Amino acid sequence: MEPTIVRLTSPTTDVIVRCQPFAEILYWGPHLSRFMPEDILTLSRAVPNGRLDVDTPLTLAAESGRGLFGSPGVEGHRDGYDWSPVFTTSEITHQDNQLLILAEDPQAGLQLRSELQLDSASGVLKMRHTLINHHAARYWVNRLALTLPLPERAGEVMAFHGRWIREFQPHRVTLEHGGYLQENRRGRSSHEYFPGMMVGSRGFSEQQGEVWGIHLGWSGNHRLRADVKTDGRRLLQAEALYLPGEQELEGGASLSTPWLYAASSRTGLNALSQQFHRYVRQNILHFPEHKPRPVHLNTWEGIYFDHQPEYIMQMATKSAGLGVERFIIDDGWFRGRDHDRAALGDWYLDEKKYPNGLAPVIEHVKQLGMEFGIWVEPEMINPDSDLFRAHPDWVLGLPGYQQPTGRFQYVLDLCNPQVFEYLLERMNWLLSNHDIDYIKWDMNREIVQPAHLGRASLTAQTEQFYRLLDSLRERFPQVEFESCASGGGRIDYEVLQRCHRFWASDNNDALERQTIQRGMSYFFPPEVMGSHIGNRQCHATERQHSIGFRGLTALFGHMGIELDPVKEGDTEQLGFVRYVALHKSLRPLLHSGDVIRIDHHNPSTQINGVVAPGQERAVILVSQLAMPDHQLPGNLRIPGLRPDARYRITLLDTPPLIHQQQGGHTMRQLPAWMKQPCDVSGEWLAQVGLALPVLDPESAMLIGLEQL
Ligand code: DGJ
Repeated sequence: MEPTIVRLTSPTTDVIVRCQPFAEILYWGPHLSRFMPEDILTLSRAVPNGRLDVDTPLTLAAESGRGLFGSPGVEGHRDGYDWSPVFTTSEITHQDNQLLILAEDPQAGLQLRSELQLDSASGVLKMRHTLINHHAARYWVNRLALTLPLPERAGEVMAFHGRWIREFQPHRVTLEHGGYLQENRRGRSSHEYFPGMMVGSRGFSEQQGEVWGIHLGWSGNHRLRADVKTDGRRLLQAEALYLPGEQELEGGASLSTPWLYAASSRTGLNALSQQFHRYVRQNILHFPEHKPRPVHLNTWEGIYFDHQPEYIMQMATKSAGLGVERFIIDDGWFRGRDHDRAALGDWYLDEKKYPNGLAPVIEHVKQLGMEFGIWVEPEMINPDSDLFRAHPDWVLGLPGYQQPTGRFQYVLDLCNPQVFEYLLERMNWLLSNHDIDYIKWDMNREIVQPAHLGRASLTAQTEQFYRLLDSLRERFPQVEFESCASGGGRIDYEVLQRCHRFWASDNNDALERQTIQRGMSYFFPPEVMGSHIGNRQCHATERQHSIGFRGLTALFGHMGIELDPVKEGDTEQLGFVRYVALHKSLRPLLHSGDVIRIDHHNPSTQINGVVAPGQERAVILVSQLAMPDHQLPGNLRIPGLRPDARYRITLLDTPPLIHQQQGGHTMRQLPAWMKQPCDVSGEWLAQVGLALPVLDPESAMLIGLEQL
């Protein structure tokens, strides 16, 4: 029998799968307009000397039993037996760009169900496996991974490392021999390693090179791998990382991997992230229709735990005057929460701070025309809390060992039904008794020895977190949620199915945010990236920045302000008004257009922008992160506009660029286009560009482009 060849196709991307003996992706890359199934004959491989005498396909399960000497896609056993399954396809269902392959190993008593869906609109491939135990005896799963092949020219990895107040830092490694392995064991998607990476042709950049990118939609532990075998073949592998004994399948039971999202591009990282953004916008986000993302005022870095309702109302009044649309009371509103060492778990209003309840504050906020939001951290418990005193056994951990505290707190065991019901009841109380539009859901401690009744339970803990959030969303469908975990510690597509925004970082330093936000932008569109104008002197770094640099840096996300507006002077206040208004005027473009990051020869000049879907408009931010290398910064070339259309260039915002006094500044004369109206073609902008002014370090300018 001839093997079945299935092609999933979209205007940008094609995936070609040979379904027998088991599924092997033969091609994953740009759309092929003239493909014929018989073309695959050209791919039949040589069998080299000095190794196995047969061809060894790199299947979706990378089976070691087929003679692949790498990391297998399924690792498990039945009391030491059935540990090296080899699957054979038994059923293929292909409809509307969706492919479902059932494959069996009757010897091992296992079935593997592989789902592949190519989204026609974005070109993003979505994949998962489900392993089913068909034997009566229990099967232990150690690993269940998704494998994607890469071409030999994929020679460089770009992945992300980070830590608290320094998320999404990109790094590169050469992929030549061996591989690159990234493991996260912190119990949440983590600051340490975002569950995504790109691999591409050497030196790939924002605008150039072939790139393949993946993201695992999972908020727990994960393992990502890019490998090169001695035969030169390369692969990407992604999986949820299971702790010992965590996954046991009784007879008939099954285990699914998280969804893996994959995209490819021939023209660098911009096209890759545009595909991911398009996918997220159309398939994952569920914003209330026609409602722009409201500008926030968050109280945290303004007043911390010092809650006085009268003062908070003054803050709200000030905020409304600045153009704020949603006012959020952060940590500190519940009983005993005067500092970060106590009270987590005691989700009752602090009546000493709020003797008349929250209602007067909420009513005040609503009368000012703003939405009201509040902070919670349900998964946590402080040892110094009534909840802990009553239920010390509700803590997540391994009996017989002492848990270390993290930010003076422990994690609750969500697999304990009493814990789950308690949290549901308390959150239900909060949301049913108060007119709340928005919840900032925090999670500030990493997870050590997660166990339920002594057995490892990180996967189950993550699933219970999803269930808790799902139950609340079902009961309160009008409420929006933000996922925060000490800033950006829980950011991924699976939690995004359940929330509306991410708090990208606890670092509001505009200079640091430039890198963090750029890193996040590879996978997430601006409208889900919480970005706030923080205090002039940043609380995380003590660095000081002008309102211009802070305002422009916060502009390209879901914008907010995080400070005490009552205490700010006139210059700052005027700045808040200016940048909030600027954000609102650009918001429809920023939250729907194509994000671009522009390559520039000097890495200290960082350029990003958004182009309207119809290319009639664009906005470009030029940020000078450090002192420019050269006296002249060169030209800014802007891609993505219509070559044949003419555009009016407008300066939307610049810092003061020239001092009249002698010495001390970078320029005597501005480029001419900055001083007089200038219209040029999209072709000119893309090929030739605009001469940039010499910017000071830690400053930025904003350029608008409108089609004439
Ligand atoms: C950590 C968050 O990331 C902050 O924004 C703030 O909400 C604090 N927790 C409150 O404790």
